[in-house]
Amino acid sequence: MSFLRISKNATALSKLSKSHFSTSLRMSQQPEGLILGVYKDLNLTNSVKALDEKVQIQLTEQLKNSGATGKLGELRVLYGLENLPKQVAVVGLGKDAEVSVAENMEKARKAAAIGARALREQGVKTIAIDAMSSLQGAAEGSKLGLYSFNGLKAPSSRKPLVEVTPFEQSEQESSAWKSGLIFSEAQNFARILAETPANHMTPRLFADQVASKLSPLENVEVIVRDSDWAEEMNMGAFLSVTRGSAAPARFVEIHYKGGKENEKPLALVGKGVTFDSGGISIKPSANMHLMKGDMGGAAAVAGTMFGIASLQLPVNVIACIPLCENMPSGTATKPGDVITAMNGKTIEVLNTDAEGRLILADAIYYASSTFKPHTLIDVATLTGAMVIALGSVFSGVFTNSDSLWKQLDNAGQNTSDAFWRMPLHSDYLKLINDSPVADLMNVGSRAGGSCTAAIFLQEFVAGLDDEDIDESEKIRFAHIDIAGTMDSGSTNGYTIKGMTGRPTRSLIEFARTFQ
Ligand code: BES
Ligand code: MN
Ligand code: ZN
Repeated sequence: MSFLRISKNATALSKLSKSHFSTSLRMSQQPEGLILGVYKDLNLTNSVKALDEKVQIQLTEQLKNSGATGKLGELRVLYGLENLPKQVAVVGLGKDAEVSVAENMEKARKAAAIGARALREQGVKTIAIDAMSSLQGAAEGSKLGLYSFNGLKAPSSRKPLVEVTPFEQSEQESSAWKSGLIFSEAQNFARILAETPANHMTPRLFADQVASKLSPLENVEVIVRDSDWAEEMNMGAFLSVTRGSAAPARFVEIHYKGGKENEKPLALVGKGVTFDSGGISIKPSANMHLMKGDMGGAAAVAGTMFGIASLQLPVNVIACIPLCENMPSGTATKPGDVITAMNGKTIEVLNTDAEGRLILADAIYYASSTFKPHTLIDVATLTGAMVIALGSVFSGVFTNSDSLWKQLDNAGQNTSDAFWRMPLHSDYLKLINDSPVADLMNVGSRAGGSCTAAIFLQEFVAGLDDEDIDESEKIRFAHIDIAGTMDSGSTNGYTIKGMTGRPTRSLIEFARTFQ
């Protein structure tokens, strides 16, 4: 078991008996695989430098012979290294220069994912992993990279389960390793919710999944409401979207109390359209299947709540998740119909495919008027225009607050699940407030489609246009449009083809750092 030698006190540990290791190891046997990082020009990481000199020479020799250079993401699998597990995946980390914590974390994330998948491909079931440039990054990357949506395939064609532990055993109990596991489990939870097809992820099933994952956690309460409740609350905008569907709607509230009793909460709102056919304004059939992921915002919010509660962060957070299908039928809302939202505003539904803003309108008003949060953030796969504007690199943030933008931007950069600021401006309101029959229309022209959607949502944040409320008391509002970052067309590093679960890690990081 000498592969477990620890850099800080290698000599002390090498004196320990084998039985000591076997009892302290969570894995039942010596891992079959090991992931190591290597910097540019084959500079070794600290934990490799702490190994026997003989092993170091052997390793460097083999890497040289394979033509490796250590550039970021480069992969070699080596065998027969003395005292190390049978299969050793060595992944390039790029330049060994001074870079930010976030950059080091991102390098480790990528390398860990690439190494872990390569070893799994070769039948390895237990893996030890070098911290490389960041232990949290290594934990996150390996777990995110090993994710696969298995549930609906024949057992024989599922990806095998793989166990990962830190190379240095003592790190198993470190907060960096544990945080990495929580951040990745949160995002993987969001990925599963979003990837699950709509016939297996109805509003009711979504609520069940969230309740069973979250309610066992400390300081968490999950409340599931039905459409009778929404009716009592006068949520006419939300209800107008579910009218055409045979699957009953749900409204999920998740309360997490980690802060002081009387401290104002952070409110998160997630768009939970479990399938968006467009309704009567039906979508073209090409790619319509991707609209099973139109609850990606709800999934990211649920994942974020799981992360916040698992880390027991010292904050109060309330999540509100309206869930329904958008379907055409004899009972569906028709173009031209006028509906009344919970806050009393009337909306002319010109296009039933602009449904996200309708369900969010009521959820945002309910959350802001009921819980009086200091900050309200909604997350939504809201507009196709967002896909065109930012693609899959950044999620777009529309906010009325510079301080909130700074905090979200920082969080996004720390996790490498980044945001780009977009305009939230009242001039866009003119494009949607000249209906001949109602206060608002649910669509403007094609121009600035993401921006008109954003300003529409802000009309439902309680208290913003109230002159009696002091500016400093007003809710900081941000709308995050994730239409572009919802899914990925290919597997790359720790990104897996399919629904991404973004921006779960950034929102957990935001909750960890915003105060
Ligand atoms: N869920 C879609 C937006 C979407 C499109 C998300 C592609 C992810 C990928 C949303 O409900 C929608 O249909 N928006 C319309 C709005 C339009 C009718 C004003 C759109 O963007 O086309
Ligand atoms: Mn739609
Ligand atoms: Zn939609």
